Amino acid sequence: MFKCFNSNLAVGFAAMGIALISVQAFAVDDYAGIGRVATPAEVKAWDIDVRPDFKGLPVGSGSVEHGQTLWEDKCASCHGTFAESNKVFTPLVGGTTKEDMVTGHVANLNRRDFPGRTTFMKVSSISTLYDYIRRAMPWNAPKSLSDDDVYAVLAYLLNLSDIVPDDFVLNDQTIRDVQKILPNRNGMTTDHALWPGDNFGHGKTKSDTHNIACMKDCKKEVTIASTLPDYAWTSHGDLSKQNRTFGATRGKKTGKGDDKAEAVGLTPFELAQNSGCLGCHGTTAKIVGPGYNEVADKYRGKDVLAQLTAKVKAGGEGVWGSTPMPPQSEVKDDDIKTLVSWILAGAKEH
Ligand code: HEC
Ligand code: HEC
Repeated sequence: MFKCFNSNLAVGFAAMGIALISVQAFAVDDYAGIGRVATPAEVKAWDIDVRPDFKGLPVGSGSVEHGQTLWEDKCASCHGTFAESNKVFTPLVGGTTKEDMVTGHVANLNRRDFPGRTTFMKVSSISTLYDYIRRAMPWNAPKSLSDDDVYAVLAYLLNLSDIVPDDFVLNDQTIRDVQKILPNRNGMTTDHALWPGDNFGHGKTKSDTHNIACMKDCKKEVTIASTLPDYAWTSHGDLSKQNRTFGATRGKKTGKGDDKAEAVGLTPFELAQNSGCLGCHGTTAKIVGPGYNEVADKYRGKDVLAQLTAKVKAGGEGVWGSTPMPPQSEVKDDDIKTLVSWILAGAKEH
């Protein structure tokens, strides 16, 4: 959910930025001849943020029932039929209780043994979810849902979380009642230096860095003192295997002992598991991407090893539909080749 907050802020500021530029900088003509004043329609297209006080929330409504249909159609392929997710995506619902709805604090957040943190455990303003889904989901077709559709899928997620009943209709009024029972509504802290306003406004929070700029005999080079101590290095296994397995960010490879697994030699099926392929591909069924049995059928008897190896590495779309496969550039070239040969040979699990 941090990501969601961040992107909300970024886009929010972008919207405000446009408004400011158009009113102030451009009006006084500091940049004569560069650009032009954004039109109200352009500003409106960017200015879609829905705030915790519901400013920006569009009028509309959607039922749990309609939400279920939409969910199964447009969301379940990635997030699971019950938003329980698959190996790639973190679960959206779960971990909250009726008791949390009374206190406004999710008790499981304090349990170290509780596995994972779902969206509904973390989110403290329902407007943030409305905003996020409207601007960013479905991932492969953002902003394709109507405002009513967003109300409907959100109603369905609230129903899956046991926050609203089966016959509930979420709209721009009932969403305010939902906020009053949202499990983690009191769980957000603003008591830190990053919270806008507080630091310079009423001085409630302080910066957490206190150094004074060095003026003489200063060090020429700074070496970072904090490194991962040896005992911690392996204490949580190989972190690189516990993160999302595609895209630009991947966890640091820790857990030195795990290299042994590679030396011993994994089966191609285990390699596919470790490389994160099976979150999107079943060996015998479509998940997000085609089932490996379908891939084998399609290319039977054709010489496509090099072509498909390159495609997996670079990612791509269009052969099996409009959902893209992200680049699998983090997987070693040799491993991709091994995987593609295994797929073309029928993707046996043993
Ligand atoms: C093609 C895959 C895909 C589809 C389809 C999809 N999502 Fe997502 N969803 C993602 C990914 C990936 C993320 C995480 C995005 C990120 O971290 O930047 C995500 C994140 C989310 C989150 C935020 C989770 C959090 O706690 O940060 C919500 C809520 C969500 N999706 C709702 C939906 C809804 C509702 C739909 C259907 C209208 C949908 N998604 C369809 C891939 C998908
Ligand atoms: C985030 C989901 C995702 C992950 C992870 C993923 N794939 Fe895919 N894959 C897809 C999608 C979607 C397609 C269909 C692309 C298209 O239509 O061209 C696809 C297509 C393929 C194809 C067929 C390509 C073609 O042109 O016919 C192969 C082979 C393949 N993937 C192998 C892999 C391997 C091996 C891995 C792991 C290293 C992997 N995929 C990881 C989503 C994924």
